[in-house]
Amino acid sequence: MPSSVITIDGPAASGKSTTAKAVAVRLGLAHLDSGSLYRCITLAALEQRSPIEGATLARLAEEKKIELHWTGEHYKPMLAGRDVSEEIRGAAVTRSVSDVAALPEVREWVNAAVRASAAQHPKGVVVDGRDIGTVVFPGAALKVFLVADSRERARRRVLQEGLATDEENLSRTSVELDSRDRADSSRIHSPLMPHPDAVQIDTTNLTFDEQVDRVVDLARESLQKKGS
Ligand code: CDP
Repeated sequence: MPSSVITIDGPAASGKSTTAKAVAVRLGLAHLDSGSLYRCITLAALEQRSPIEGATLARLAEEKKIELHWTGEHYKPMLAGRDVSEEIRGAAVTRSVSDVAALPEVREWVNAAVRASAAQHPKGVVVDGRDIGTVVFPGAALKVFLVADSRERARRRVLQEGLATDEENLSRTSVELDSRDRADSSRIHSPLMPHPDAVQIDTTNLTFDEQVDRVVDLARESLQKKGS
């Protein structure tokens, strides 16, 4: 495990990735988005019309050399030598990703890839996902669990997609987020849940800067304690 690891878990659109990115910049660490690996495998499966089956998809991930490549500045999701940062955010991938992420062989493959990518960074990482504090880095200096009201999460995701926050977009997005959260929380393997030591932060009424400040303060405290 790299010397500094901060984990940020939580439901869809709770602000994990944007927060993790900003916290990493403030602490001189790198942001590692574990969900992007599940998305890469889902994209490869859709492109290959592969059956959604664990061993097959773990083999596909290996064959297609799926990885989070450390560029020296950030981690880039790669599929067969291609930067797929944009493609993995598409609606078809989002629709299928929770089914792929429920497969234990896929989870094992991703966990090993996350640990290997984290080890590439000289100083440390802020990793976001669903099971990073509970399964991947339970020994992390700080484990954060972000939550936010379902309506507020839908509003943020709609804005992130550059769409109008009208009733149609909000309810469609809300249905999509709720169905993914249900699938992620009720699966047998590594369901979405906070580690008992995780600090839970409800971001519904916090500004983005406030939530980043809060995690940075907690991280500084925990890293200092760990180092002393
Ligand atoms: O849309 P959002 O950014 O919230 O999700 P994501 O972080 O890109 O993750 C996409 C999907 O991957 C989730 O809905 C989970 O099914 C799965 N995932 C997981 O199971 N475990 C992780 N550590 C990260 C993501």
